[in-house]
Order: sequence, then structure tokens, then C-alpha cells
Amino acid sequence: MGFNDFLEKAEEVRRTVEKFKNPLVVHHYDCDGITSGAITIKALQNMNKPYRNKVYRKLDETAIEELKTEKEIIFVDLGGGTELVNELKEEIVIIDHHQTKNINHLQINPELFGYDGCLGLSASGAAYFTFKTSSDLAIVGALGDVQYPFKELNLKLLDESIQRKEIEKTQDITLYGRGARPLIQFLLYSDDPYLPGISNNENGTKSFLESTGLILKNETSEKWKTYYDLNADEKKILITSLISYLCDKNLVDYSKKLIGEVYLLKNRPKNCEMYDAVEFSTILNACGRNNRTDIGLGVCLEHDKYYEDAKNLLLVHRKNLREGVQYAKNHIEDFGKFYFIDARGIIDESIIGVVAGMLLSKRDKPLIAASLDENGNIKFSSRLLDKESELNLGKILKEVSIQVGGIGGGHKYAAGCTIPNNKINEFLLELNKHF
Ligand code: C5P
Repeated sequence: MGFNDFLEKAEEVRRTVEKFKNPLVVHHYDCDGITSGAITIKALQNMNKPYRNKVYRKLDETAIEELKTEKEIIFVDLGGGTELVNELKEEIVIIDHHQTKNINHLQINPELFGYDGCLGLSASGAAYFTFKTSSDLAIVGALGDVQYPFKELNLKLLDESIQRKEIEKTQDITLYGRGARPLIQFLLYSDDPYLPGISNNENGTKSFLESTGLILKNETSEKWKTYYDLNADEKKILITSLISYLCDKNLVDYSKKLIGEVYLLKNRPKNCEMYDAVEFSTILNACGRNNRTDIGLGVCLEHDKYYEDAKNLLLVHRKNLREGVQYAKNHIEDFGKFYFIDARGIIDESIIGVVAGMLLSKRDKPLIAASLDENGNIKFSSRLLDKESELNLGKILKEVSIQVGGIGGGHKYAAGCTIPNNKINEFLLELNKHF
């Protein structure tokens, strides 16, 4: 089982899709779900095929019932993780990367070929290898699923995307908004790395920029310059000034985070977030997690019409994340074998997983966070930092949630589940036995 077998299966899926007449694309709502959905839709458009699409947060009994009237379905970033899909008797293909077992339909999934679906290829990568279109979106999907540093099939994907001139890999400053934010906001709003005395400090930002001597406005158009508007010498001045500022403050570690590998989408406009794969992935997460996957798909497929709406959603998303992280930091509890955050009714189920991921740093045990879904059931998200661990969160959450009448699954280090509202104690006690 290796790459050639994987490609053969991808080819079989593509040939099956080519025979479909008017398929329904059923995809997930997060960044990887949107990009893999967009790659599939782009492929159908290239084939001049009519299609429809539908988004699900999870495939439960209700979803499966709804889908029973369909004749042809392409599942993307969904479908591989639950045997419920076997109840569907229509023509079905599955393009997924979740842990998978006992699925009777045709499926392309790195997990079936000895690769790691959690870190080695996302659903978008599987969709790219199936349809060989939009490798840049596949890189965005991988980064949206935090599949970094790249390994396994993601490295092959990256190579191909560079050869296709859809992605350029380069070393640069890693702060958010290189093409979209004027320099003052670029530094003022920087949170990764946080720049003490500059981030969130308008006077600090202004006096730092003054000390660099950089001209902040374009002399002819009077427009505020972004990082990408600087020439090579000016960029060098900004970076070296930031590094020496951080070193003067004994923050060498922060300065190391300032420069890193960045992936540019060569066919996208340079002056916006979609030029950078990480920034693009944040925008798509913002769309999906605010129930606007349509806008997310829109910016993937038809940039201009949807960009402003997507940017507005990003503002909402960032605010929700900031508040969520603050709450979670104040309420995280050590339950012995795992950390627990009870955010029911406080943090929305759509971002609880992202918040859990943001709190992982330096924590040595699994982190489980609880929220409420739209029906009042409990949605858990779990994350694990230690990639050498023997634990398999996806498997554990699937088993334990089924025991209490719920549904769940996912990856080894990032998983989720939904259980009935009155089963929280039973669930946590049972979970404890598995860690
Ligand atoms: O929602 P969250 O980001 O925590 O999900 C983490 C992973 O677990 C995702 O890959 C998601 O598809 C999976 N998951 C699942 N079943 C659920 C909830 C999440 O397979 N009920």
C-alpha cells in the first residue's frame, strides 16, 4: 500500500464522478471542508456537469435520512468516519481523511493506504489528487487543519503545487496581514508572536515605526503602505528593527517566531489575505464557523464578489476567538488524566475545537472542552499536543460517545463528539477509563 495505490484509487473515484449526471457534493463546514468542497466543485465545473452542494457539521441519523432521496453523492471531508453512510444505497464516492473502518462505498482516503490523515494529508489534498485541480486550495485546507509542518503526502502536494506555479514557498515575516493591513495595524494587531510594547499599544507601535525611519504612506497615492508595498531594503529594515527590539527586551524566543516558511497563492490578488495560505485558512474558518460556508466557497471560486463579506466575518471570528480563549484560560480544570473546560452555553460549538487547540501549548495531557449544540446536546472537542502518544482521541471519543447514545470520531490528536445533554457525568467517567 503506497502512493501509487493511493493514486490509482483517486483515479477510480474521478472516473466514477465523471459518470455522475447531477451529483450532490456533501461537505464539511470548516476550512478543510470548504476547500475540499471547492476543489470538487471546480472539478465538476471543469467537466461542465451540473451539481448541487450541501454542508453538514456532522453526519448523524438525521443527515443520513435527508440524504436518502439523493441519487449521486460525493462526500468530501465527511463520510469516511461513520458506518451510517452504509445505510445509503445510492451511487456514492467518499473523499476523506478521517479514520475510517467498515465503509462499503468507494473511498479515497490516505488512512486506507498507510498514511496519516491527521497530519499527512487533509481532505483537500485527497480531493486535489483525485481531480488534479486547485492545488493552492489544497495547501490552504491542510494548513486550516493545522497539518504543519508538512509531511507524507502533504510534501508531494506541496511539490506539485510549486511545479504548477499555484504556490510559492518562501521565508518571510510570519505576522498576519502582510498584504491586507497597513503597517500600523500590521504591528498593532499582531498576536502571533505577540510583540510586547507594540501589539495592542498604539503609541508603542507608532514610536517603533518612527524609529525605523520607514515611510508609511505611498508618496503619490497617499495610500497607507502594507508590508508587501515595501521594497526589499525596507523589509529588511523592518525585520531587523523588530528583531533587535525583541532582543533588547530579552525576548529572543519571540524573535525566532517572527520569520518562518510562508506559502503564497500565486494566482490570487497580492493585496489581500487570500495571497497567503495561512491567512486564507483563517478567513475560511471564519466563514464556516459563522454558518456562511457559501461565502467561503465564494471566495475560493470567485474571489472578488465575496471578499468584503468574508473579511467582515473574519472580524467577528477573531472577536469570538479572543473572548473564547479568555474564558477557557480562566476556567480550565485539571481532571487528573485530562484537562477539562466546561464552556456550555458560553463558547459556541463551532469554535470550541479551535479554542481547545489554542490552549494546548505546553500541556502534556489531552484537553476536552464542552459546549452546547443547536439542539441543546453536548458537543465535545478534544485535542492532544503529544504526537508520540499512544492515545487515539478519534477512536476513544467514537467508542465512548456511542456508549452514551452519541456520535463522534475524528483523528488521533483532534476529535469531537456529540452526546445527549443528560449524559455528561457518565461520559466523563467512561472517558477517564480510556486515558
Ligand atoms: O469540531 P472539532 O474541530 O473539535 O472536530 C475535530 C475533528 O473531529 C474533526 O476532524 C471532525 O470532523 C471530527 N468530529 C467527528 N464527529 C463529531 C465531531 C467532530 O468526527 N461528532
